[in-house]
Amino acid sequence: MNVSKILIGSDHAGLRLKNEIISHLADMDIDVVDVGTYTADSCNYPDYARALCKKIQSGEYGMGILICGTGIGMSMAANKHNGIRAACCSDTYSARMTRMHNNANVLCMGERVVGVGLACDIAEAFLSTEYQGGRHDIRVNMLAEIEAENQ
Ligand code: RB5
Repeated sequence: MNVSKILIGSDHAGLRLKNEIISHLADMDIDVVDVGTYTADSCNYPDYARALCKKIQSGEYGMGILICGTGIGMSMAANKHNGIRAACCSDTYSARMTRMHNNANVLCMGERVVGVGLACDIAEAFLSTEYQGGRHDIRVNMLAEIEAENQ
């Protein structure tokens, strides 16, 4: 695994899957910091996307995982943050490719979409794959240009 510490967050609809992923990654000696939510009470996914993305923006952490019912709301919220490249994945191929080509720094998944085993495989694929750089740099830099144009 390339990373030794990551952030994780969820809303109520992603809580169970989040807890499964936390124990799976802890078994792999990855330090996982949970930004919440911590209970099954209904809550709003943008709050947890914001909490996690701010810690990546500050440089404290390089990568994170966000889970909601579908993974879609979390990815939409995360991608509103400068410097965050969030990918909603429900297969391992996409998880590897979004690291290699998009230098994604946040993985989003849906508890109502993927089972625990697949979600853990997707997380492992994401966390163990390096960005390829090279010809992809120009395109990833263009994402930052779009952010700058929309300030
Ligand atoms: C919560 O019911 C659900 O809407 C949320 O977890 C997420 O799937 C939104 O994208």
